[in-house]
Amino acid sequence: MSSEGKAKIVTTHVLQEMKLKKEKIAMLTAYDYSMARIIDGAGIDIILVGDSASNVMAGFDSTLPITLEQMIYHGQSVVKATKRAFVVVDMPFGSYQGNSKLALTSAIRIMKETGADAVKLEGGREIIESVDRILSAGVPVMGHLGLTPQSINKFGTYVVRARDEDEADKLVEDAHILQDAGCFSIVLEKIPAKLGAQVARDLTIPIIGIGAGPGVDGQVLVIHDMLGITQEFSPRFLRRYLNLDVAMTGAVKSYIKDVKNVSFPNEKEQY
Ligand code: KIV
Repeated sequence: MSSEGKAKIVTTHVLQEMKLKKEKIAMLTAYDYSMARIIDGAGIDIILVGDSASNVMAGFDSTLPITLEQMIYHGQSVVKATKRAFVVVDMPFGSYQGNSKLALTSAIRIMKETGADAVKLEGGREIIESVDRILSAGVPVMGHLGLTPQSINKFGTYVVRARDEDEADKLVEDAHILQDAGCFSIVLEKIPAKLGAQVARDLTIPIIGIGAGPGVDGQVLVIHDMLGITQEFSPRFLRRYLNLDVAMTGAVKSYIKDVKNVSFPNEKEQY
C-alpha cells in the first residue's frame, strides 16, 4: 500500500525499489482464480503461476509433465483475479531449453494469452541464449537457480544444492550472468542460508528465496504447502500457516453427516 492507503500496482520498478528500501518481498504461488483473488486481496507482492501446478493441481510426482497449454490455462485464471500483485508464469519443461527460438515463441504465447507480467525460467549459463532472446522481445524474465526441479532427473535427488564450493561458485557466477543479461529478479531454491545472503548482497536485483534463508530480499512458498493442503511434503524450510487438510476433512465429514441424517438443508435453507 502507498502512504495514502491506496492499492499500488506492483511492477518490476516497484520490486527494485523494495530491494533498495530493504522492504522484503512476499511471493506465493497460485494456479486458479479463487486462490489468486484471496492472496491478491491479502496484499501479496508477487503471484507465481508455478509449474508446481504439475504436482499440486495435477498430481504428478514432478514438474516435468505439465504442458505450455496447461500453464497458459492456469495463468489466465490467475491474471483474471489479480488487481495488485505482479504475476509471473513459469515456462514449463521443454518450452525453452536448448532452443532459443522456441523459448521466444513460448514466452510470447504466455504473455499474449495470459496477460501475465513476466516469465520464469530455470537455469543459468546453459539457458542464457533463451533468456537473451526473450528479453530482446521486452518480456521481463525471472531466473531460478539452486534446486531447479525441472532438472530433477539430472540431480537425482531433492537435497540442498550448492553446499560444496564448486557448485556455490557456479551458482554465484550464474546469478551474475542472469543479472547482466537483464533478468529483473532471481529465485534461489534450497541452498545454504549463507550463500543466499551473499548472492542477495552481491546482486542489485531482488533475490527471492525458498529454503535460501532470511538474508535474501523476499520469500516464496507453494500455497498448498503453506496452507497445509499438502501433507506429504515437509521440508525444513516450510512453515505451515494453516492445516487446511484437517479443516477441510472435518467440514466435508460434517456435510456428509448432515446430508445422511437430513439435517441439511433445514427450513431456512429451502424455498
Ligand atoms: O513452481 C514453483 O512453485 C516454483 C517455486 C517453488 C519457486 O518454481
